[in-house]
Amino acid sequence: MGDYESYMKGSPLEVKVITKRFGLANSTSIDVYLETDGYQALAKAFEMGPAAVISEVKNSGLRGRGGAGFNTGMKWSFVPKDTSKPKYIVCNADESEPGTCKDRPLMESDPHQLIEGIIIAGFAIGARQGYIYIRGEYRYLLDILDRAIAEAYGRGYLGRNILNSGFDFELATHTGAGAYECGEETALLNSLEGLRGYPRVKPPFPAVVGLYGCPTIVNNVETLCNVPAILRMGAEAYARLGTPKNGGTRLFCLSGHIRRPGVYELPMGFNLKRMIEEVGGGVPGGKALKAVIPGGSSCPVLAASEVDVAMDFESVARIGSMLGSGGVIIMDEDTCMVKALLRIEKFYAHESCGWCIPCREGTAWLKNLLQRFHDGGGTEQDPDTALDVSFNILGKTLCPLGDAAALPGISFIQKFRHEFEEHLKLGACPFERRAVAVT
Ligand SMILES: Cc1cc2nc3c(=O)[nH]c(=O)nc-3n(C[C@H](O)[C@H](O)[C@H](O)COP(=O)(O)O)c2cc1C
Repeated sequence: MGDYESYMKGSPLEVKVITKRFGLANSTSIDVYLETDGYQALAKAFEMGPAAVISEVKNSGLRGRGGAGFNTGMKWSFVPKDTSKPKYIVCNADESEPGTCKDRPLMESDPHQLIEGIIIAGFAIGARQGYIYIRGEYRYLLDILDRAIAEAYGRGYLGRNILNSGFDFELATHTGAGAYECGEETALLNSLEGLRGYPRVKPPFPAVVGLYGCPTIVNNVETLCNVPAILRMGAEAYARLGTPKNGGTRLFCLSGHIRRPGVYELPMGFNLKRMIEEVGGGVPGGKALKAVIPGGSSCPVLAASEVDVAMDFESVARIGSMLGSGGVIIMDEDTCMVKALLRIEKFYAHESCGWCIPCREGTAWLKNLLQRFHDGGGTEQDPDTALDVSFNILGKTLCPLGDAAALPGISFIQKFRHEFEEHLKLGACPFERRAVAVT
């Protein structure tokens, strides 16, 4: 089992829509789910019909919680209706972005909410088969999901003629093998087909040519968990929880130098400064805030002076970063930004699938250059070389893993160049020197 108590600390500022069953006894069982509005939205979906479900989800302003933030209902509407091919719905439970750990509690505490969301999505697009693709490291969650799926089959929410609607739907789990790249939707589909997890060229997009060449919707766990709530509350009420173009709530994962690290459900558009200070309790030890990565390690870093921002897709984009997957990484004044960037680039160099040369070579270059630089062997040209390498990766790869490595690289160097210069002047890491001097 996971350590639920350690990351679900709770805050009075939370608005619990998709986390409302967290902490209930036996929250994973179908009985508790049914006692707390469970599977009501599915019955409602059958009354509404597929087109009305799609337009309700579209109007709710729900945007993909996997990172890109695309309007979910709009994505569903791209699935061709006049095709004889089977259609698929795939739940992306690969959750591998450093700093992001919110799909895990959703599956750990409320698997039926996810299952209901998947069935509704399948009904809306006309799919008869769904898959939950779950990262290999979340193997313990597989038992929880498989048990919940078996319960749903047992009570007639999966299988043939669900709730006498005439709709048939099958659902199965499938594990990944620990590759970050397999969270990218087309690499995920290759992996699901039993192929190596390389990304595919887009277009065509999976909604048209996806699993086994058939129309497929890939949605993140959190995205799908919101669907039952949207149908129960109605699109308008759900949309009103957030900001005009960003409906509902969002799970934010606070980590790093913060008093109360954890996963919190807050309205879309919640102010980042308040999130750090009032929800997370601020930076510990009386230290000053230096920087924040707002949406997982692939997003450009924000300096402390930039954190008075609404956490919705447009507001964060306006200041040059991304809302991403909700992983808010907080760094205090004693953080070495060269070392922090090195840690990030080590991850991307390790996880590059090697398919595209700019990503495969560029991430390795960035890692090696930063390692040498941090260890005291840097040259004056290194920051500009690292920027040059980053710009030569950016936008030049088949999938956005290359961008994920380039964007933090560019922002760290541009915003914290003085720290690179300090390393150069000292011939060592100034933060490590200071730490040694203090002890
Ligand atoms: C390298 C890489 C890794 C990704 N990993 C994940 C992941 O672990 N989970 C996820 O939901 N989306 C991930 N994505 C985004 C997916 O490609 C896709 O946009 C998402 O699953 C779509 O679902 P949504 O519209 O509900 O957000 C990743 C993208 C890239 C480029």
